[in-house]
Amino acid sequence: MGQLPGERPIGACAGAPDPLREAVLRDLREARWHQQPRLGGELRARIGAHYGVAPENVLVARGCTEAVAWAFSWAVRTAPRHRRAVLAIPRPSWPGFTRLADHAGIAWSHYDAGDPPAPDRIPVVCSPNNPTGHVVDETRLARWCSSATVPVVVDCTYDDFADDPVLPRAHRYLGGPVAFCANLTKSTGLVGVRLGLLIAAADVVAGIEAGVDPFRLDLFQLAVLNALFTTSGRAAWRDLVVRTRDAGARCAALLAELLPCGAIGPTVGNVVYGRSDGCCDEHRALLAAMADVTVFPVERRFRLHVDDGTAEALTALARDGKGCR
Ligand SMILES: Cc1ncc(COP(=O)(O)O)c(C=O)c1O
Repeated sequence: MGQLPGERPIGACAGAPDPLREAVLRDLREARWHQQPRLGGELRARIGAHYGVAPENVLVARGCTEAVAWAFSWAVRTAPRHRRAVLAIPRPSWPGFTRLADHAGIAWSHYDAGDPPAPDRIPVVCSPNNPTGHVVDETRLARWCSSATVPVVVDCTYDDFADDPVLPRAHRYLGGPVAFCANLTKSTGLVGVRLGLLIAAADVVAGIEAGVDPFRLDLFQLAVLNALFTTSGRAAWRDLVVRTRDAGARCAALLAELLPCGAIGPTVGNVVYGRSDGCCDEHRALLAAMADVTVFPVERRFRLHVDDGTAEALTALARDGKGCR
């Protein structure tokens, strides 16, 4: 069977490191499988501390998808009553935004990623954006978040891979009506685990939490959280992010050398994007020869998935003079 959409996600260039996996399995072996799983206050505090916020500001979700769904419903409830609440969703961006809005019966319109959305809409921010890599600058974010009435939903799924991640500064914005949605599986090499976070003001979190199942996380998810938010877990996570960023940068540089007629960038996690404007035959053949490249001929874009072997493969191509001239 071919790959389904989303099976080859943007994320880390390798799976979770062995010590982290071992810690999860140890925890699971000792867990009480006959009791309701529950996120304890101490673990919640460790998660909050990682992001520089109080435990009351974080709510763990089953994937960032769930956090975004919560944030959308909250935003619509919070928007000024006299106006019909309409989400402003960036285009291009993750298709899940429109799917979730449609499913919840929430009106939406698109804005071009990079441009400000219409002022009467609820801005949905995706930074860094999937798939453009565009990062919303913080002056703009601060302006939106300081509005007293219009809520803002900020999806930070790829924030860990950004040059200057914004989530560690999320606490600065929590005075305004903003919900940050974070992902805990892409940058940790744990895409097979459903884990995400909503970070918002304590009253927002309490309001959402009151309506959700207190036992919605299973023992496996709890064991992963427990292993991740320790000193060693966080160090392993940081190393994986650094390794992924290095691999992405190396591959982007090699691609630029091999394909001088194209435009390389941006890099988001383990994915390097490029445009093939000056497309020539060698160029196309070269791309086709790379196993992990997906070519979008109409858009003249391509996407390269990076792992530990990709830089070596590209280095060999460059050494053999395989580039496009
Ligand atoms: C921007 C963005 N937000 C949210 C998600 C969903 O994340 P999760 O798989 O944790 O539900 C994705 C997944 O690709 C994404 O790209």
